[in-house]
Amino acid sequence: MILVLLGPPGSGKGTQGALLKSELSFEHISTGDMLRAEVSKKSPLGLKAEEYMKQGLLVPDDLIIAMIKNILTEAPHKNYVFDGFPRNVNQAEAFETMLNTMRLQVDKVFYFDLEDDVIIKRLSGRRVCPKCGATYNIYYQKPKNDTLCDNDATPLIQRDDDKEEVIVNRLRVYKEQTFPLIEYYKYKNKLFVVSADGTQEEVFEKLKSML
Ligand code: AP5
Ligand code: ZN
Repeated sequence: MILVLLGPPGSGKGTQGALLKSELSFEHISTGDMLRAEVSKKSPLGLKAEEYMKQGLLVPDDLIIAMIKNILTEAPHKNYVFDGFPRNVNQAEAFETMLNTMRLQVDKVFYFDLEDDVIIKRLSGRRVCPKCGATYNIYYQKPKNDTLCDNDATPLIQRDDDKEEVIVNRLRVYKEQTFPLIEYYKYKNKLFVVSADGTQEEVFEKLKSML
């Protein structure tokens, strides 16, 4: 089964993707996490991607599509949840072509609907563990010790693109480039709207009931 999580930055795609992985054994493919790993390795892809990511812009489609193609070619028949991909109509069309050649298709697209003021609060409050990747929020999901990761006591950091100036850009890019995918998948009868404004557990229950 192939699922896509679609929604504005901070709407909970990463959080729900991680739950689909831990609770239902989906392969969680987050293009954002993959790119951040390349950036911290300072690989050629990471160095290129960093220029775009720090400004809140999309990384060029050809780099992203090649990454996804590698994953699917290696293991085409797993249950996947894609988080943060596709991100524009061009990526969605390339994804469809790629899946067609493997006799696969996107089964369901979950659109996480959330108001801008909540988005901004979630993004500005997000803190992440640079060691294990765990995500926290100073407003909604505090670690036990204010500034340290619950798993390994590493000091938590703020993502560079969660700074206020970059958040504004990310929201603009989302509205211009990603939002049109809602109509794209609605037209294909694959779109399921999820109100993302509950607790993590509430949103996950809603998701499961729609699977
Ligand atoms: P990416 O990492 O994909 O960022 P994003 O889409 O902006 O999404 P986020 O990770 O910010 O938010 P999320 O929806 O996953 O929310 P989360 O669960 O973390 O992309 C980063 C960059 O990489 C892009 O700007 C671009 O440059 C590049 N990129 C990535 N994919 C690309 C692609 N396909 N094409 C081109 N470029 C690409 O939650 C956010 C916060 O809220 C957390 O603190 C969390 O604890 C909290 N939270 C979550 N759920 C709840 C809840 N129910 N209640 C209260 N708090 C909650
Ligand atoms: Zn940690």
